[in-house]
Amino acid sequence: MRSDPAGVGNPLRTDVMKFHIKTYGCQMNERDSNAAAALLERHGHAPADAEREADVVIVNTCSVRGKAEDKARGKLGLLIAGKTGRRGRLVGAMGCMAQRLGPAILEEVPGLDFAVGTHRLAALPFVLERAAAGRGPASDTAEDRPGRDKRRRHFRPGISAFVNILLGCNRACSYCVVPQVRGREWSRTVSNVVEEVRALAAAGVREVTLLGQSVMSYGRANAVCPDGCPSARGYTEPLPRLLEAVNAVAGIERIRFASGHPSGCAPELARAMAELPAVCEHLHLPLQSGCDRILAGMRRGYSAEDYRQAIRRLRAAVPGIAVTTDIIVGYPTETAEEFEQTRRFMDEIGFDNAFIFKYSPRPGTPAAEEADDAPAAEKRRRNQTLLDDQNRRNLAIHRALVGRQLEALVEGVSPRNERRWTGRTRTNKVVVFEPVPGLAPGSLVNVEIRQAWAQTLFGVVAGGAAKPESRHGSVA
Ligand code: 5AD
Ligand code: SF4
Repeated sequence: MRSDPAGVGNPLRTDVMKFHIKTYGCQMNERDSNAAAALLERHGHAPADAEREADVVIVNTCSVRGKAEDKARGKLGLLIAGKTGRRGRLVGAMGCMAQRLGPAILEEVPGLDFAVGTHRLAALPFVLERAAAGRGPASDTAEDRPGRDKRRRHFRPGISAFVNILLGCNRACSYCVVPQVRGREWSRTVSNVVEEVRALAAAGVREVTLLGQSVMSYGRANAVCPDGCPSARGYTEPLPRLLEAVNAVAGIERIRFASGHPSGCAPELARAMAELPAVCEHLHLPLQSGCDRILAGMRRGYSAEDYRQAIRRLRAAVPGIAVTTDIIVGYPTETAEEFEQTRRFMDEIGFDNAFIFKYSPRPGTPAAEEADDAPAAEKRRRNQTLLDDQNRRNLAIHRALVGRQLEALVEGVSPRNERRWTGRTRTNKVVVFEPVPGLAPGSLVNVEIRQAWAQTLFGVVAGGAAKPESRHGSVA
């Protein structure tokens, strides 16, 4: 199907449509939903205040686990069923599932009006407008890449923004569908990224999270866009150089990056994290398993000992760094004893937080050729065991922070209690506090921690300079 990748052609329908985007999946999807909203606004459409008021509802889908796809299918089904009561409403899909299935998604999800894949975000307004003009279901999931401009716009940025620095993934983890969906890696140039971060800072953003599937590969492979997009061409340096350049952008108080890989935790990165004031003391470093046999089966490219050494290096350079992780339970052939190894290893590392996933075979991945042999009940048990362990760890780590003053980047009024405000510490912990005069989203305050729950800290705003938080008792 033809599209207008330049993003400047005449829309087929010019009246304003109110849109709503429902996002599933990762931070990269959140970023894409923002970019899609900005794109639709530039085409004259307007965000709806609520889903029920929208003329067009778009579901940004995730393919990483079967359950994520089931959720998106369920949501699309409900929206499509609801169309009978809302004449003229359009329902569309974007994201990884649309990319993975291609045009077949229009057959798999009867009643779907349009679909755009992750590689074709720039075509969204045209695909939507074609569907709106009544030309039947439309899709654009071709296997090429967007030009530079279309991926960079943000939709009313708040105080925090996601910035893609590396697209695709060259790793071949046995269980993962992402390389199929998001394609080969390519890094944006340092100047390209810095230009975007400067624009975000000028719009009031104080914190950026630099995103890539395996962000430590930044600058290593395919420094140019495979499409030959001229603006992406140029000199690309390794991640520590990019962190230096972003650190130098005035107005950016905090920098995070995700997701990491142990092989990238080199001394130079540890040094950059220690020396650059805006780079936060937090790293999301997926472990997946603490058992060497399972790690090898997963083709993760490291052993438990490699992971341990990576953490040692980081902690030596950045005392008190918070480390969060992802774990998969019930990978094919994982025994109960191998699961226990993961448990012990998680305790040894002392993760600040962990996302636990039950293994889900994904079509086309090497692991899907092996029997998915862990019974559902056993996967549930392992999942719950790790969640309980992590809750205990969180509580102990948080309780050790009571009495300390931590720097919080203020986000605004708490969504749960309008008399309180929330922010995040540099180690990415949620902190809730009583408002004080002059408080504004984006300001940095010191909060003295008075109470700790497993997922939340509570405190009062205190004067004075913020002290770097460290549960190891050392100060960076
Ligand atoms: N099954 C379960 N979890 C998965 N993840 C990726 N693929 C799968 C799968 N097939 C998890 C990994 C990854 C996170 C984003 O999702 O833990 O780090
Ligand atoms: Fe994000 Fe991966 Fe899900 Fe795609 S498949 S939305 S990249 S988590």
